[in-house]
Amino acid sequence: MARGYKYFEAIEKHAGLLGFFTAIMVSLGGLSEITPLFVHAATVEAPANVKPYDPLRLAGKDIYVREGCYLCHTQMIRALRAETERYGHYSVAEESVYDRPQLWGSKRTGPDLARVGGKYSDEWQRLHLLDPRKVVPESNMPSYPWLEHESIDARDIMARMRTLRRMGDPYSDEDIAAAPAALEGKTALDALVAYLQGLGTRFSANPAASLETEDAP
Ligand code: HEC
Repeated sequence: MARGYKYFEAIEKHAGLLGFFTAIMVSLGGLSEITPLFVHAATVEAPANVKPYDPLRLAGKDIYVREGCYLCHTQMIRALRAETERYGHYSVAEESVYDRPQLWGSKRTGPDLARVGGKYSDEWQRLHLLDPRKVVPESNMPSYPWLEHESIDARDIMARMRTLRRMGDPYSDEDIAAAPAALEGKTALDALVAYLQGLGTRFSANPAASLETEDAP
């Protein structure tokens, strides 16, 4: 006991030693939490109705990340009544298998967007992104007028699809080859609206398929 205390005191009084052992403990804790996720992530399989992003939505997702939409919007409906009544069915892991990175977010200055797809028309979404106050007078969301004038680089999206395929997303050669035609003449605004209109719809098209493999909340 006394001897143990001596070691303890030595560590406590020596900032370098304390730092070293703290780093070891934190790493062990981190590893024990993170390692199982590598295995778990590989076991989460996409239900048949959840497909990888098509080229336009993939481009839109990039713009969503670039513009920092996730800083004000979550895409994670928690299994709480107040949330499911407002936003719809709570989010499940299978819905995010093709989201790299996932965009669950942590701050809601604006509403959750996990199931916003189809809630408004494309036209509403366009107007809202160009100038939110046109459709929601009290909104404090920023305007994104430049999106309308920005074209999309198809080569960039094809490279992304190839990379995602290497990571396991089931894109075929034909899917990738079809990207330039799908992106022809599209603007960043078209892509972002397409992305938003797809959010949550893959799930709600057939909730039962997604629910079969889901853990109890
Ligand atoms: C500074 C915080 C902020 C940022 C950044 C932001 N928003 Fe918003 N957003 C809001 C607020 C607040 C609302 C609610 C008022 C409104 O509808 O405009 C909102 C509403 C929305 C809605 C309507 C949701 C609904 O269910 O009614 C959509 C869609 C949306 N934002 C998309 C985006 C996209 C896409 C981006 C990035 C290009 C973005 N937002 C960036 C704050 C933000």
